[in-house]
Amino acid sequence: MFKFDFDIEDADEALGDNTTTIFQKTGDKETTEAQPFSEIPISQLLDALPSLISYSPLSVPLSSGKYLNIVRRDLFDARFQLISESEGEPKAEDEALSALDFIEAPSDLIPGVYEGGLKTWECSIDLVDHLSNAPEIRDLHGKRVLEIGCGTAIPSLYLLLQLFSSNPGTKETHIHLQDYNTSVLELVTLPNVLLNWYMSSSAAAYHETQDSSAAPDPCTPSELPITSELKQAFLQSLKERKISIRFFSGSWETFEVFASGGKYNIVLTSETMYETRSLPWLITLMKSACEQSLEDLASSQLSLKSHVGIPCLCLVAAKVLYFGVGGGVAEFLSALKDHGGQGETVWEQKQGVGRKIIQVRWNT
Ligand SMILES: C[S@@+](CC[C@H](N)C(=O)[O-])C[C@H]1O[C@@H](n2cnc3c(N)ncnc32)[C@H](O)[C@@H]1O
Repeated sequence: MFKFDFDIEDADEALGDNTTTIFQKTGDKETTEAQPFSEIPISQLLDALPSLISYSPLSVPLSSGKYLNIVRRDLFDARFQLISESEGEPKAEDEALSALDFIEAPSDLIPGVYEGGLKTWECSIDLVDHLSNAPEIRDLHGKRVLEIGCGTAIPSLYLLLQLFSSNPGTKETHIHLQDYNTSVLELVTLPNVLLNWYMSSSAAAYHETQDSSAAPDPCTPSELPITSELKQAFLQSLKERKISIRFFSGSWETFEVFASGGKYNIVLTSETMYETRSLPWLITLMKSACEQSLEDLASSQLSLKSHVGIPCLCLVAAKVLYFGVGGGVAEFLSALKDHGGQGETVWEQKQGVGRKIIQVRWNT
């Protein structure tokens, strides 16, 4: 087993079980076939939920001195779901690694099989703090947002919490979440979106229909019964607030920007540059998400007027170096230059394993 285990602060403990600061990788599949691009409808992800999910709080310290209270589905609960679903199903010897295998693996990722999305990686928390000060996200209504390699989707949860607690917009707001693994979208991404909606004032009408109409406390671990009333109330609330949330799985090189509706105003990604060989795919996707070509727009019959000339905020949060795997900020910046982009460091942490947030701009 290929294992990276280096000593850094006790952040793992502070951030909880399903958060990782350590990088461990198992195996190396150089010839992995690209996973096809696929959209998983929100209704399908909701239907995949068990009748009860458990969650715990994540308190994100912001530089303003405040704390952002997010809740996340417990990893042990996702594991329990998988075990219950797999009971009685004999496994073929040559069967590909299942979600249960990778949830139980001692490593944080298995390249080309499982790319680490079940846990929250620490740079996603840096990105939340940065976003909390970014003027571009003060009014999200009508914007199109893509989080690439979202996993537990902490930056998008922050944006959604802003939307859930503000007045409904008049224009449709699009939050698109991409992960390599469909099972990650199913087990943690969608549950986290649902849980944070449930904690917000957007769910007030639903709370009133319940025995105890009190709003739930996002600082206390608890369980949420998943009923058809809850799912309907969630979907209805998204509709009323004109929030469209879509989920995409597959390898970056297969992502179809015009099938997802075209160019984005905000493109976010965190802890996705650890593999040098996937940098060209990541950067190509970031670029096409920020500046989709006029030809693509014309062929996709999207409104040219609504998509051309929109500035794109593109932020990448990462460790400066992913020891042993070769990826890191220097390699990313060099590959970015080759693809007609430039990166500016907009935030930096130098102590311990260095971390940065890079704002990407594309040469015109
Ligand atoms: C280390 S995890 C980080 C997850 C999350 N952004 C965070 O910071 O907590 C890397 C993420 O990138 C995605 N990813 C990595 N390589 C990928 C690839 N070649 N194609 C598509 N997605 C990929 C995975 O889905 C995974 O969620």
